[in-house]
Amino acid sequence: MKLAKFSEHQRHIGIIGHNISHTMSPAMHTAAFKKLNLDYDYGVMDVSPEMLPNLIASLRTLNFRGANVTLPYKEKVLDFIDEVSEEAKMINAVNTIVNNNGRLVGYNTDAHGVYISLAYYAEEIKNNHVVIFGAGGAARATVYAVAKFFSPKRIMIVNRTLENAAAIAEEFGPKFRLTKFFATNDHDVAIREINVAALLINTTSVGMKPLINFHPLPPNTVIQKNQIVLDIVYNPIETALLKVAHHAGARTVSGIEMLLGQGAKAFELFTHQEFPIHTAREMVLRELMQVNGNNK
Ligand code: ATR
Repeated sequence: MKLAKFSEHQRHIGIIGHNISHTMSPAMHTAAFKKLNLDYDYGVMDVSPEMLPNLIASLRTLNFRGANVTLPYKEKVLDFIDEVSEEAKMINAVNTIVNNNGRLVGYNTDAHGVYISLAYYAEEIKNNHVVIFGAGGAARATVYAVAKFFSPKRIMIVNRTLENAAAIAEEFGPKFRLTKFFATNDHDVAIREINVAALLINTTSVGMKPLINFHPLPPNTVIQKNQIVLDIVYNPIETALLKVAHHAGARTVSGIEMLLGQGAKAFELFTHQEFPIHTAREMVLRELMQVNGNNK
């Protein structure tokens, strides 16, 4: 990727969202800046929807280096920035804005987070079946990343609301010729596909704190030990889905990897430096233990 030069005076970065008191990004990025002796600060910008355009404009006037974007604005910010990467356009969501001398460029690093989480299993995913639970914004980045980087034979999107899953399948189908896309909300259809899948991914909020005892699998699903299971939920670290998978002997990947992976790519876009991932991982684990009272 060609990176534009940036002004030495751009020292502010932050995260834009609403009701985001539990975001891990400030701790993660601040620990990384400290580790590399970089003189940046990273703040939380919690704004109401009416204030979003002003806030984005002030990234320019206050000479911010950039910002991360989280719920509920990942789609909305597309309207207020100057340029959007091809990847973010396809996913239709921006989670990272870089200020290139007054020009705000939007990226989506969630797809990279999915890639990093699963790269070790690339050979097993290629030409195989994948089941993805959920059809929201996180699902779009995940479906895109799995199709783009791993070329599976089939992706089935399983979602409570069929239309949402079908819309993603229809949109991505023509864009990725090596992968066939299907959508369902039918438990039996889902179970049949789960039974032959190499990889299962949860992108829904089911299982996220405080609803920690729930998982997105249809009743009576049996996970097999040769399967790979990724949950993009990272709080709790071991979700109910990952517990079930773990007990079945399957290989599990926690949402922490996705959190770190998307953070790493954003950090590199902001600073042009390699993300100190071990430092960031330690900090995220420490933060999660702290908010959960040492009870993961
Ligand atoms: P995000 O941008 O984080 O993906 P979202 O766009 O609100 O958030 O999407 C949330 C996803 O989780 C959706 O697929 C949603 O299903 P619907 O499309 O049917 O709304 C799914 N989801 C949320 N809560 C759920 C629940 N209790 N049971 C099943 N699916 C749920």
